[in-house]
Amino acid sequence: MMRAMDQVEPIEKASADELRALQRERLRWTLAHAYEKVPHYRRSFDAAGVHPGDLKDLADLAKFPFTAKADLRANYPFGMFAVPMGRIVRVHASSGTTGKPTVVGYTKEDIDTWAAVMARSIRAAGGRSTDIVHIAYGYGLFTGGLGAHYGAEALGATVVPVSGGMTERQVQLMCDFKPGILMCTPSYALVIADEFARQGLDPAQCSARVGIFGAEPWTESLRDEIERRLGLAALNHYGLSEVIGPGVASEHVETRDGLTIWEDHFYPEVIDPQSGAVLPDGQDGELVLTSLTKIGMPVIRFRTRDLTRLLPGAARSMRRMARVTGRTDDMLIIRGVNVFPSQIEEILLKNDRLSPHYVLEVRRDGHLDDLDVLVERRAEMLAAAKVAVEQDVERSIKGYIGVSTKVRVVEPGTVQRSQGKAVRVIDKRPKT
Ligand code: DLL
Repeated sequence: MMRAMDQVEPIEKASADELRALQRERLRWTLAHAYEKVPHYRRSFDAAGVHPGDLKDLADLAKFPFTAKADLRANYPFGMFAVPMGRIVRVHASSGTTGKPTVVGYTKEDIDTWAAVMARSIRAAGGRSTDIVHIAYGYGLFTGGLGAHYGAEALGATVVPVSGGMTERQVQLMCDFKPGILMCTPSYALVIADEFARQGLDPAQCSARVGIFGAEPWTESLRDEIERRLGLAALNHYGLSEVIGPGVASEHVETRDGLTIWEDHFYPEVIDPQSGAVLPDGQDGELVLTSLTKIGMPVIRFRTRDLTRLLPGAARSMRRMARVTGRTDDMLIIRGVNVFPSQIEEILLKNDRLSPHYVLEVRRDGHLDDLDVLVERRAEMLAAAKVAVEQDVERSIKGYIGVSTKVRVVEPGTVQRSQGKAVRVIDKRPKT
């Protein structure tokens, strides 16, 4: 018998018109809520000469100022909250590479909203209340573990809250508990697959039929690799702490063609990162998100720095976003050529003698930057083929991306493994 939690929610089947009307109403509420309760928004709206009442139509949102990560830092720790601390039941924080972390806060209602969008995401991926869900996203201040946890519980599934790390034990638990769903970063999924193999087990025999992977950029080639090795459908999942955590957009198992944005809770725009102008759907740019229902910490036009494009609805009337190709701040400029780690990943994975474990090192030689690509060979590749493979990959990178690199094929197991988000770029340039 199908249980209530397993049913598609009515709003997921709403027409585009119904959805837009709901968004308009919720957006008006959010703008007023932010303006009235958060001094930062009052100041920034006033400075831009806009008032929540100016939003007559969804397109009017473009008149309102952006919010950046720097605004959250400037209001550290709790200055962006729109309710008294007594109503905040949870905080999360993202470490950030420099300076203070960014802190986010949730009311009880926000935690319920978050659980609902995560439950919807797991359901879209084919998860059901009867499933066992193995969660290997990190628990703690990172939103991955607890976000997935509350969602899986709201779905009525059985949660195995393993968190990241202790990979040997992850494999043992997966063999013994036989989860149908695995949730972790795509890079950690590969670490788990390697550990199956190390224990003499065939990772493809792993019970999971679906993996819900996100929190870091990954490519279609990596999806193929993970699916082949773990014998599951590897689905993409997107989110960010500032907007709620995981649960912003998720792929459907039946279509697997981009991530449906849960537009009844998050309003997406794509902008030109330089000019800030809103781009039409279909054009590549930076994703900007506005929360529509968050009470504790509404976010207005948050600049995610993630590069993607908006696509029409497919499995649902809600729009989709394409796979994120990189972040505006992840882009390397090597001798004038723009390079995203994902472009290199795509090329490395085309070579069946190379493993998906790689890292990019940026060095400075005099005034010029050089890019070294360190990639592990597959165990079955003969060491003698090393030089030929290196030259072959250097040629492909030059041909496809237009940048000269030094490729170094290294021994299996020598590139640092991650338990969460993989570190793809090591900057060895002298600090200026
Ligand atoms: O990574 C939330 C999350 C947890 C998402 C688990 C998915 C699964 P933050 O630590 O705040 O939150 O990092 C957010 O990670 O702006 C993107 O740059 C990146 N990111 C998240 N999901 C994807 C994805 C969580 N599917 C930042 N593809 C975002 C590419 C992603 N990048």
